[in-house]
Amino acid sequence: MTDTGAVRIRLTVDGRGIEVEAGTTVAAALAMAGVSGSRLSVKGEPRAALCGMGVCQECRVTIDGRAHALACQTLCREGQSVRTWNKAGEA
Ligand code: FES
Repeated sequence: MTDTGAVRIRLTVDGRGIEVEAGTTVAAALAMAGVSGSRLSVKGEPRAALCGMGVCQECRVTIDGRAHALACQTLCREGQSVRTWNKAGEA
């Protein structure tokens, strides 16, 4: 990969360390990390980001212990901890 000079940010997703460019949303970071799904529906089905603009609520995750954060509306921050249903049960 070519070095673009972009600022890189390190965070964890379900306990796994990843690195993304500054300005990346948590939803994009989840996709880049290969995480399938952000939360479970009331019927226990995995759900994932759909609209990407804060409307559908399907991208809810737990960020730094705060449940129901919208991954598509949250920018990644250095040291951030993101948990999905894969680790946290109902996110
Ligand atoms: S993807 Fe729809 S609210 Fe985040």
